[in-house]
Amino acid sequence: MNFELTPEQKEIHDMALKFARNEMMPKAGEYDEKAEMPLPILKKAWELGLVNTCIPAEYGGAGFSAMDSMIITESLAYGCLGMNTAIMANDLALLPIVIGGSDEQKKRFLTPFTEDYKIAAFCLTEPGNGSDAAGIKTTLKDNGDHYLLNGNKMWITNAGYADLFVVYCTTDPALKHKGITAVVVEKCEGIEIGEKEDKMGHRCSDTRAVTFNNVKVPKENVLGNVNEGWKIAMKTLDHSRPMVSASAVGGAQCALDHAVKYSKERSQFGKPLSGHQAIQFMIADMAMKVEASRLLVHKAAWLLDNSKPNTQLASYAKAFSADAFMEVATDAVQVFGGYGYSKEYPVEKLMRDAKLIQIYEGTSQIQRLVIAKEIFSRS
Ligand code: CAA
Repeated sequence: MNFELTPEQKEIHDMALKFARNEMMPKAGEYDEKAEMPLPILKKAWELGLVNTCIPAEYGGAGFSAMDSMIITESLAYGCLGMNTAIMANDLALLPIVIGGSDEQKKRFLTPFTEDYKIAAFCLTEPGNGSDAAGIKTTLKDNGDHYLLNGNKMWITNAGYADLFVVYCTTDPALKHKGITAVVVEKCEGIEIGEKEDKMGHRCSDTRAVTFNNVKVPKENVLGNVNEGWKIAMKTLDHSRPMVSASAVGGAQCALDHAVKYSKERSQFGKPLSGHQAIQFMIADMAMKVEASRLLVHKAAWLLDNSKPNTQLASYAKAFSADAFMEVATDAVQVFGGYGYSKEYPVEKLMRDAKLIQIYEGTSQIQRLVIAKEIFSRS
């Protein structure tokens, strides 16, 4: 057992955190206010090699381990949760190709992402199906030498800028998860992109509905086999949920750091807030939650890197870190008092941003459902 980062991981951590502090943080409030996709910052992150961490070295990627990508994600989320969501959503969309694609598909779809800054979107959720992912209604119909894709997707991160979509669809909704197929769709005719959603948090990340109207999908764009997309989706989430959890750790660490700094600066009743036990106990609880979340993330990543099942740990990490981030951010606002409720201080944004982590990539309740299933039926 070794809790030390390797020298290479320390280097990646320092570089990503420096980028977060110098490039992301100073602009985070402005992009949040304007609810604008921070393209120049995303491009800089790509140039530094901090985007698409899942692409293996043989397809032009950096060959990062899952642990490396957690370190990067935590650091970037420290800078801005919304910007990090835009970055992380690329990995979420490319992971199904890494997991279920053929060598030819990996070369065709992944390598271009290492040659130029490109954006990808993962299309699972639909207007009527969020938590119940197996209830997908978007259809895939055989049409001779190609398939036709029809249906509506909802809450799709990066949708307005995506060059490539990984879409989950069904050959027969009655088959539930056994009819789900994963296809890669490159930007083309028949894809209708909705208006940008006006969200509470992660406001600079681009979230929209996407409609597929008779979109022609080449047969060679099916990942794995027809009707075998469900396992690809679930394995993708096993990898991406620890990343989302790492983003919660980054956000919570940022909220904690702000609260500690402010509690040393502000005085009440003749001494700094940090001298009051009521505040000390809050800060101690916040610090424990951040560190416990980080340890769960690292264990979920370690299991991935050692090719061991990590579904249960991924859900432990996701539920625990998301709930912890919400609590830590709320307490950071409390430490700041009235000032914390103002947009002038960064903890207000962190509290809004924390909420989404309890919702996307499987709500905190779905994570508990997964954990219970693992305990009662699968273990
Ligand atoms: N790996 C491999 N197989 C798995 C698996 C895993 N992690 N989890 C489940 N399976 C298998 C099961 O073993 C079962 O296999 P059999 O058919 O052989 O029995 C099959 O999948 C069906 O499993 P369940 O019976 O558990 O399926 P369910 O429909 O009852 O529940 C669920 C599944 C876990 C609730 C799933 O629907 C789920 O994860 N829902 C949440 C969806 C989600 O996370 N959406 C996020 C969207 S992406 C997003 O948010 C991105 C963004 O904005 C940035």
